[in-house]
Amino acid sequence: MKFIDLKPKHQLIGHKINARIQKVMEHGQFILGPEVREIENKLAEYTGSKHCITVSSGTDSLLIALMALGVGPGDEVITVPYTWISSAEVIALLGAMPIFVDIRSDTWNMDDTVLEAAITEKTKAIMPVSIYGQTPDMDKINQIADKYGIPVIEDAAQSFGATFKGRKSCNLSTIGSTSFFPTKPLGCYGDAGALFTNDDELAEKFRCIRVHGQGRKHHHPILGINGRMDTLQAAILLEILEVFPGEVNKRQQLGQAYSKGLAGVKGASTPIIRENHTSVYAQYTILSDRREEIQISLREKDIPSVSYYSVPLHLQPVFAHLGLKTGDFPVAEKVANECLSLPMSPYLAYEDQIRIIDIILAA
Ligand SMILES: Cc1ncc(COP(=O)(O)O)c(C=O)c1O
Repeated sequence: MKFIDLKPKHQLIGHKINARIQKVMEHGQFILGPEVREIENKLAEYTGSKHCITVSSGTDSLLIALMALGVGPGDEVITVPYTWISSAEVIALLGAMPIFVDIRSDTWNMDDTVLEAAITEKTKAIMPVSIYGQTPDMDKINQIADKYGIPVIEDAAQSFGATFKGRKSCNLSTIGSTSFFPTKPLGCYGDAGALFTNDDELAEKFRCIRVHGQGRKHHHPILGINGRMDTLQAAILLEILEVFPGEVNKRQQLGQAYSKGLAGVKGASTPIIRENHTSVYAQYTILSDRREEIQISLREKDIPSVSYYSVPLHLQPVFAHLGLKTGDFPVAEKVANECLSLPMSPYLAYEDQIRIIDIILAA
C-alpha cells in the first residue's frame, strides 16, 4: 500500500492530461502560455477570490507574498512552530525574524488567544498555517490583525478546497497562499503554487515579482524572482481541477470513516474538525502516546505511516540563533511527539481503510 497513491488518478484522467500536454507541445508557449491564465481564472472562481496569481511553488508563493508586503531585515513575522519549514524559512530568507506562537491543542492551528501578546511594532505580517487541511478560526485572527493594521497571509498549502463559515480557504485574509506539490489536496505533476487576494495593488505586485520584478519589458522597478508556474503544470492542473470537487467529497468521507472507526482507540485521539469548518484532510493524523507501537504494527503489515514535523521549527538547528528551547511551545512539542499520519488519498480503497483501522485497534 502507498502512503499517498497518485496512480489511480492518472489511470482515470491520464488520457485527458496527455491531450492537454500535447496541445502545449504544439503551441510551444511554455512560459506564461494561455493555460496559465485559464487556470488562474478557474482557481479564482473556485475560491471566490478576485485575483489568482500562479507561481513556481508553495514556498515561492509565501516568499513573493512577504516580498510584496516589503518584509525585510529588522521586521518580524508571526507564524507557528508546528508546520513545514517553508513557513518560517521564507521569513528568515528575507532577513526578517520568525516569531512563533503556539498552536491549539484541538486543531493544531495557531492559538489566537496568545497571538496578540506576540505583536510588536516590528510585526509586518501574521502567517497562520491551515495544518492538515483545516483552517484556523480566521475571523479571530483577522480581528486581532485588523486592530493593529497588520496583513494576514494564510499558508493554505494543505487546505485548498477547505471551508470556513462557507468561504473557501485561500480567500479568508489579505493573502492566501497554496501549493500544488503532487501530494497536496490539489496537486499537479511537479512544483507549483498560487497566491490569492482581493487587493488589486497586491495582485499587481505579485505578478511583477514572479517575473524578476519586471513591469513593462526590460524595466525592473522592484526586486523579484523567477517564480512562474510552468504552462505544462497549468495544463495538467486544468484537468485535475475538473475531478477535484469529487475528490474533496471522497476525502471528507474517508476522514470521517477513519474517525468513526478509530473512536475510542486505546491511548490515541482523532482529529477534531470544528464547527463552521470543513477539512480536506491533506493528512489524516492521529495523536498517540503509543505512536511507535502503532507505527510498528502498521509497518509489519506493510502499511506506511508518517510523523510529520516531529522536530518543531523552534527546535530546528537552522533556527538555533533564535535562542528558543524545549518547553517554549508545549502544545506544538506534544503534537510533534505524538502525531502519526495514516495513508490518505481520495482513491484509498474502503477495504484498505478497514484493514488500517483494525490493525490500529489491535495494536
Ligand atoms: C504548510 C506548508 N507551507 C508551505 C509549503 C511549501 O510548498 P511547496 O512544497 O510547494 O514549496 C508546504 C509544502 O509542503 C506546506 O505543507
